[in-house]
Amino acid sequence: MTDEQLRDEAFILFVAGHETTALALSWSWMLLSQHPEAWAKLRAELDHVLGDRPPTLADVPALRYTDWVAHESMRLYPPAWSIGREALEDLELGGVAVPRGAQLWMFQWAAHRDARYFPRPEAFEPERWDGDLLKKIPRFAYFPFGGGPRLCIGNNFAMLELVLVLATLARRWRPVVRPADRPRPQFSITLRPAGGMRATLQRR
Ligand code: HEM
Repeated sequence: MTDEQLRDEAFILFVAGHETTALALSWSWMLLSQHPEAWAKLRAELDHVLGDRPPTLADVPALRYTDWVAHESMRLYPPAWSIGREALEDLELGGVAVPRGAQLWMFQWAAHRDARYFPRPEAFEPERWDGDLLKKIPRFAYFPFGGGPRLCIGNNFAMLELVLVLATLARRWRPVVRPADRPRPQFSITLRPAGGMRATLQRR
């Protein structure tokens, strides 16, 4: 690689990888504060799997509820809430003529709320991911990491980060977002909490 390519690679990994994951975590803490029953189940799993020690990579397969929390948070608050493409040539898509140069947008925010695949779409229900839901729904019903040739290259790494950071923090702390401080989503390039996410950390 040239120096310039190396710089570009480092830059894109940093830009694409850090805010997205941080946003997924922020929305997860908000949803967990709103749903004490989900928080209790998460805590029970951490007590059962980890006891008194911090999680390691080897614990990840056993942290199933933690993984469901990450999936369900990104269903309701996908850090990448839309992705776009430009047609390079005239084509027909699902019976619709798309002229060359047209912009096509796909919205995770909307697709993830499709009641055909996610009953009670607005409810935060980590359990819905039990039984390998991903294999039962169409491939693009849930696509927080995009898909096809440009699927997020950090997909698996991000899932590991989410599960390990949620487990590490929730073992010792409870981030509480008061109802009055619940931010509105801001539909920027990423899905940000408008004005930030104020939370109080309660020590366990
Ligand atoms: C929860 C965390 C993350 C989410 C929601 C996310 C989401 C996405 C999405 C939707 C795309 C596809 C964009 C498109 O098709 O136009 C993408 C691409 C990409 N992501 Fe992620 N991402 C996350 C974490 C990461 C991490 C941790 C890294 C790197 C360490 C990363 C690096 C990349 C790169 C390099 C691409 C471009 C891939 C390509 O075009 O070939 N992402 N990401």
